[in-house]
Amino acid sequence: MAEIREVRGPGRFERIGAHSHIKGLGLKGLKAELIADGMVGQTEAREAAGIIVNMIKDGKMAGRAVLLAGPPGTGKTAIAIAIAKELGEDVPFVMIAGSEIYSEEKKKTEILMSAMRKSIGVRIHELRKIYEGEVKSLDIKMTRNPYNPYMQIPESARITLRTKNETKTFEVGQSVAMQLINQGISEGDIIMIDAETGRVTRLGRSAEREKTYDIEAERIIPVPSGPILKEKEFVYTVTLNDLDEMTARRSGATLLSLFFGGREEKEIDPEIREQVNEMVKEWVEQGKAEILPGVLFIDEASLLDLEAFSFLTRAMESELAPIIILATNRGITKIRGTDYISPMGMPLDFLDRLLIIRTRPYSREEVMEILKIRARAEGVELTKEALNKLADIAVESSLRFASLLITPAAVNAREEGRKEVHIEDIERVRKLFSDIKEASEFLRKYEEKFIKAA
Ligand SMILES: Nc1ncnc2c1ncn2[C@@H]1O[C@H](COP(=O)(O)OP(=O)(O)O)[C@@H](O)[C@H]1O
Ligand SMILES: [Mg+2]
Repeated sequence: MAEIREVRGPGRFERIGAHSHIKGLGLKGLKAELIADGMVGQTEAREAAGIIVNMIKDGKMAGRAVLLAGPPGTGKTAIAIAIAKELGEDVPFVMIAGSEIYSEEKKKTEILMSAMRKSIGVRIHELRKIYEGEVKSLDIKMTRNPYNPYMQIPESARITLRTKNETKTFEVGQSVAMQLINQGISEGDIIMIDAETGRVTRLGRSAEREKTYDIEAERIIPVPSGPILKEKEFVYTVTLNDLDEMTARRSGATLLSLFFGGREEKEIDPEIREQVNEMVKEWVEQGKAEILPGVLFIDEASLLDLEAFSFLTRAMESELAPIIILATNRGITKIRGTDYISPMGMPLDFLDRLLIIRTRPYSREEVMEILKIRARAEGVELTKEALNKLADIAVESSLRFASLLITPAAVNAREEGRKEVHIEDIERVRKLFSDIKEASEFLRKYEEKFIKAA
């Protein structure tokens, strides 16, 4: 039985442009290679992360979480992303910052809860009845649009499908006819129509029709064999949050909510979540679905407050929990909203559950290697001097600032008619753009001036 994969990505890699070079932890067994998978140095942290990946795969992370502790720009986010990559492609990865849980509209726990449920995938296997074959002939019957006499719309269609063993003609209604037109289906296409919903999917061009293989971006596929009407297995991955939203929409969809609900997310009733949990557990028992616990990465975790930490502690114990990875660059600080001073601003009972991984500042050589990889990821060529200059900037200011300057420098080089980025390009953009420290000092100076003037 053929399998069609429709991976509905939860949109998890949107915010990781700066980390697009990270392909994994770069380990051989449990040992880090100096440079591998886009990773450079930071070997102990990467090896520790490798052990975490093994624990996750063995299901040994219940009741625990990971904390990445290190100064800014030492690869905390990069390592969290690498862990997710090691877990597999359709494993969800959700990234939030501690500061994001404070909102006017939503409760903190609601924000955390939906982030958690976005990080848990459900891989669903479904057997569906479909009609599949090559379009042998297609005849669409048009009619006048009842609201617009100048417009023709499809009324129905007569379609003949064939497989290697069978040819059949079907009469289909307006909605299928409309899809056939919208998708530009023509004779010689291989298509599939869902028997229950009438959804049309174009699979490609028939290999028997297409003798010339020069049509690019066109999938040439063999004419299917067997009966036209058949059962096929579909595999797709959604998240618990997707299922929550779908269920909420179905049960709460009144006419008013259609008008005023819009597409904006509303809070989801705990009962709906309970319902979804039960439904998913049932699917798992029936062998129709598997749970894919993903990663919830909480950056700036020292900005969470007691309520958030106790929510997370409970979450770690629960049956349907993602892997929680936190990151911080704060040493000893106040727990937000209290006067208690505590390591990383976290309560002790929470700290007790953490496997802590340190990330250390990089040497100049390591910084240079990372910048080289970043330049390659952005398709930019740097001269040796330019790379050296960038490394100076990274050491003086920050690695992130230095890598941010690569693209502006490339724009400057192109304007000057150079293919490679030269040291002049780096020096020029270094003057034009300021790092965070310079910008905030600049603003502070003017604030003082204005206060004096006022
Ligand atoms: N060990 C490393 N190997 C390759 N790239 C790295 C490494 N550490 C950091 N980077 C890259 O350097 C930049 C800054 O690192 P980042 O992960 O954002 O640091 P942090 O989260 O600790 O502030 C990012 O583009 C990141 O992908
Ligand atoms: Mg980070």
